[in-house]
Amino acid sequence: MAILVTGGAGYIGSHICVELLRIGEDVIVLDNFSNAKPEVIGRIKQIAGRDFPARAADVRHEAAVRQVFADYDVEAVIHLAGLKAVGESQVLPLRYYQHNVAGALVLCAAMQEAGCKTLVFSSSATVYGAEGPVPFREDHPLSAVNPYGRTKIMIEQILRDLHASDSAWRIASLRYFNPIGAHESGLIGEDPLGTPNNLLPCIAQVAAGRRPRLTVYGGDYDTADGAAVRDYVHVADLAQGHVSALTYLRGYTGAEAFNLGTGRGYSVLELVSAFAAVSGRPIPYVIAPRRAGDIAVCYADAAKAEKILGWRTRRSLRQMCADAWRFTRTMLETAK
Ligand code: WQD
Repeated sequence: MAILVTGGAGYIGSHICVELLRIGEDVIVLDNFSNAKPEVIGRIKQIAGRDFPARAADVRHEAAVRQVFADYDVEAVIHLAGLKAVGESQVLPLRYYQHNVAGALVLCAAMQEAGCKTLVFSSSATVYGAEGPVPFREDHPLSAVNPYGRTKIMIEQILRDLHASDSAWRIASLRYFNPIGAHESGLIGEDPLGTPNNLLPCIAQVAAGRRPRLTVYGGDYDTADGAAVRDYVHVADLAQGHVSALTYLRGYTGAEAFNLGTGRGYSVLELVSAFAAVSGRPIPYVIAPRRAGDIAVCYADAAKAEKILGWRTRRSLRQMCADAWRFTRTMLETAK
């Protein structure tokens, strides 16, 4: 039996596939390649030394999704396919509800029809909204300040309703904090098509000389150095969190949410200096006004995942930067 990974060619999905293949699981990827390059599939195979099927299809496409369940014996699904740019979600809300919410509905209906009822869902710490106190625990009230975040809250709710209607479902919603870093091989990592929105790809572009300087949004937060604080988590640790969730679901029925974070925050400026130290490159920056919708401090209470899933992060901020930098250099080399 195989694990279906939707969005498996993406930044997080590709690392999950590597991890699943490494521990001997069979994998099937479904990805529409709207924000991932097809060559990522070859790189996953290269790292894992194993082959697996990959389908270029959209998770909203009912017939295509059904066909996967007809063609393969799918034990469980790890669902990551979706859109994730906060700003874009404010401009194009319908697109976000369609891709994320309708996509999840199509997928769950196909799973139900096929009798496959084990699902790990890619959620986000954004479901905790703008109100503290930190660290965020899983029972913190859910709220969101943009359509992207609302799609995650809606999908989590749909999954709880699904389990309430049929207790055979085994569901884990994993709330990611700020995934950064890359696979230690330097072959896969965060490679957004177009202009990046997130902090680390921006820092990497400055270090690589592709941008003159970084804009730091907000220098007047109530934090030690005035910059916003986030819980950066290595993408390889995050990938292992999915495997831990899958293992847990094999012995559990229910619908449960887990934070995936380190439980510790670093400021934007701390990340900048860690990256500068690891890369040996200067990272000039200017402090600009706060970015709309940002909160000052966000980090996880990571106790539940450790207690129930037996998962905790192992990789340091330094390693996150070193691995991201290795990937950036690989990308620059291959672009030459
Ligand atoms: C981190 C910090 C920025 C860029 C977002 C989504 C969230 C989740 C992860 C998932 C903030 C600052 C950024 C720059 C900066 N999404 N920054 N200069 O906002 O914590 O979370 O991504 O899919 O849902 O909201 O992450 O990386 O955008 O920002 O100073 O050029 O870096 O203001 O304080 P964020 P981020």
